Amino acid sequence: MDKQKVLHKPATDGNCLACHNPHQSEHSKLLLTEEKALCLNCHDKTIIFGDIKVKNIKKLLQTGNFIHRAIDSGCVICHSPHGSNNILHLVKNFPGHEAYLNASIDSFALCFSCHDSKLFAEVNTNSATNFRIGNENLHYLHVNRKKSRNCSVCHNVHGSPNNFHINEKIQFGHWEMPINYVKTENGASCFPGCHSEKKYDRFGVPKKDTITENLSYKNNIKFNYDINPSWINYKQRLDEFNSLEFTDIKFVFASTEIIENTDKNLINVINFMKKYPNCKVEIQGYTDNVGENSINSELSQKRAEKIKQIIISQGINHYRLYTIGYGKSNPIASNDDENNRAKNRRVEIKLVN
Ligand code: HEC
Ligand code: HEC
Ligand code: HEC
Ligand code: HEC
Ligand code: HEC
Repeated sequence: MDKQKVLHKPATDGNCLACHNPHQSEHSKLLLTEEKALCLNCHDKTIIFGDIKVKNIKKLLQTGNFIHRAIDSGCVICHSPHGSNNILHLVKNFPGHEAYLNASIDSFALCFSCHDSKLFAEVNTNSATNFRIGNENLHYLHVNRKKSRNCSVCHNVHGSPNNFHINEKIQFGHWEMPINYVKTENGASCFPGCHSEKKYDRFGVPKKDTITENLSYKNNIKFNYDINPSWINYKQRLDEFNSLEFTDIKFVFASTEIIENTDKNLINVINFMKKYPNCKVEIQGYTDNVGENSINSELSQKRAEKIKQIIISQGINHYRLYTIGYGKSNPIASNDDENNRAKNRRVEIKLVN
């Protein structure tokens, strides 16, 4: 702790017993409880300490439908429990609560220790991010600038009620502005205080003026709006994906057990993903109409997760695999007899980009 600039109060107070049992424990590092629960023992309320006001993280995790997957690995994957040399005793660099900064990849080293920094660096891309209009990278537009926005302006890194951990509100000092983020099929719209209502569509055509603005910023990269070659590439890729030999994967009733052989063509999807190393897919789980909505929704998510794990085991990075449980919605056959219900107990895979 002597070597760290930013210390965590319970540790500097010498209150080691708030977290450790010095004699024995069922948890590693002699922790009192499982590590995440340990943090939430105190961070289950707003903590006021001098002029610092620390948000209630437990409440946030309870109200957020979309919890950051990193938290599965515990809070200490990002925060050092005793102290570190970074703000908020984070394990790597991050610009804290600053809204604007002159940013480089290293400013967000924490995020880019797990996420691909291409989402920050590439002006034009069809694969590094889904926050784009056609191949115009909107992460680049917002983040890679002299007056860059912090990731936390848009994302809540712990979780939020919105997809992709998009905040409900943007915090500017004492100001809170609603973002009004509404997801659409291939993008979203937002209406924050910063600008008028704007939409993005991944498969749309970028507006010329914004691209020119980008280019003047990094004028070494040339981009031809009319031909937009990488956009066509996506179309070709989609055609190829759609022509793959692949049928839905089927499941035993009320279970995540795969019906024999129905996953044999999964290898085609895996090979496709190896051929196009930047593409991402959405793995969609479904159920038949027997049982409660909430149970079906959970089961469909588990089916999708199961297929995700199989694909990961074949060497595909998990960031490229989105999972979603649609429950009993979108049936492909009427649910009136067992034969048809069996068709609905399935996983489909769609190309995202
Ligand atoms: C806020 C809770 C908290 C407090 C207070 C705390 N610790 Fe820890 N400590 C942890 C956690 C969590 C870990 C496990 C970190 C990990 O797994 O990376 C840990 C790990 C350790 C380790 C093992 C380090 C290692 O690298 O394996 C030691 C030793 C330790 N703490 C000593 C102390 C001492 C001494 C104090 C009091 C000055 C203290 N801790 C206060 C939460 C705390
Ligand atoms: C014993 C109560 C206690 C426990 C347990 C605890 N904290 Fe804290 N935490 C505090 C207090 C008090 C503060 C405010 C003072 C400060 O900033 O150090 C704080 C501050 C923080 C801050 C900095 C907020 C800021 O604005 O400076 C972070 C981040 C944090 N804790 C994370 C954690 C994590 C991660 C764990 C689990 C390893 C944890 N805390 C466990 C009491 C606790
Ligand atoms: C992916 C990395 C990551 C993980 C995992 C993570 N945090 Fe954080 N945490 C951050 C970042 C980045 C910030 C600063 C930006 C912000 O507050 O949104 C932060 C801020 C905080 C703060 C300060 C909030 C404030 O009001 O100033 C607390 C307290 C905190 N985290 C606690 C936790 C606890 C408890 C956990 C585990 C349940 C956890 N964090 C897990 C990255 C993480
Ligand atoms: C320890 C690794 C780790 C760190 C550090 C980390 N993340 Fe993540 N993040 C993940 C994982 C794992 C996922 C889930 C990916 C998935 O489901 O395919 C994720 C998902 C996300 C998503 C949602 C993606 C989606 O498709 O829903 C956003 C947004 C995000 N992270 C932002 C951040 C930001 C901002 C930071 C820096 C403060 C950060 N992450 C740091 C591991 C990490
Ligand atoms: C202006 C708002 C905004 C800012 C600032 C922002 N993001 Fe995002 N981010 C989004 C939106 C919107 C999405 C959802 C894209 C979609 O529709 O799939 C997203 C998606 C993501 C994803 C999921 C993968 C992807 O790119 O599609 C990650 C990871 C992510 N952001 C990380 C970051 C990191 C790290 C930072 C800071 C360096 C950051 N974001 C800054 C708005 C923002």
